Amino acid sequence: MERATSGAQVRVFIRDESDVVVARRRARELASQQRFSEAEAEALATAVTEIARNIVVHAGGGEILFGQAVDGPRRGVVVIARDAGPGIPDIEQAMQDGFSTKHGLGFGLPGARRLVDEFGIESKTGAGTTVTLRKWAAAER
Ligand SMILES: Nc1ncnc2c1ncn2[C@@H]1O[C@H](COP(=O)(O)OP(=O)(O)OP(=O)(O)O)[C@@H](O)[C@H]1O
Ligand SMILES: [Mg+2]
Repeated sequence: MERATSGAQVRVFIRDESDVVVARRRARELASQQRFSEAEAEALATAVTEIARNIVVHAGGGEILFGQAVDGPRRGVVVIARDAGPGIPDIEQAMQDGFSTKHGLGFGLPGARRLVDEFGIESKTGAGTTVTLRKWAAAER
C-alpha cells in the first residue's frame, strides 16, 4: 500500500512541559483539519502528549513533526517524534504495561500504541529515539 505524506509539515521543538502543551494543541488542530471525530482527536492528542512527555522526561529534548497522511480517500495524521537522548536499550520491555525506569506508571508508550492505528519505534542506545504515529479518520465526513 502506498502512503504519501503531503501537506505542510509543522515542527514543534520539545524541551519542557509547556512544549508538551503546544504539541497536544497541534495534534488537535491537525485532527480537526482532517475531520477526526472528537474521540479520534482526543486519542491522537493523548498519544502525542505521552510521546512528547517522554522526550522531556527521558531524553531532555527533541522535536515532533506533524503532517497530513493520505492513502486514497483516507485522511489522517502522521506524527514523527525524535530525540537524540540516551535511547531505549530494550524496546520490547519499554513497550510493556507498567515498565518504567523513572518511577512513572509505565503506561505512556503502550498507551500511545493503543490509541493510534500505526505505531513505530526505533531507538539506538546513545543515539536517540524516533517514534512514529499514524491515525486515520474512521470515515469520510
Ligand atoms: N524518548 C525516550 N528516550 C529514552 N527512553 C525512553 C523514551 N521514551 C520512553 N523511554 C523509556 O521507556 C520507558 C517506558 O516509557 P513509558 O512512557 O511507557 O513510561 P514512563 O514514561 O516511565 O511512565 P509514564 O509515561 O506512565 O509516566 C521509560 O521509563 C524509559 O525508560
Ligand atoms: Mg512516559
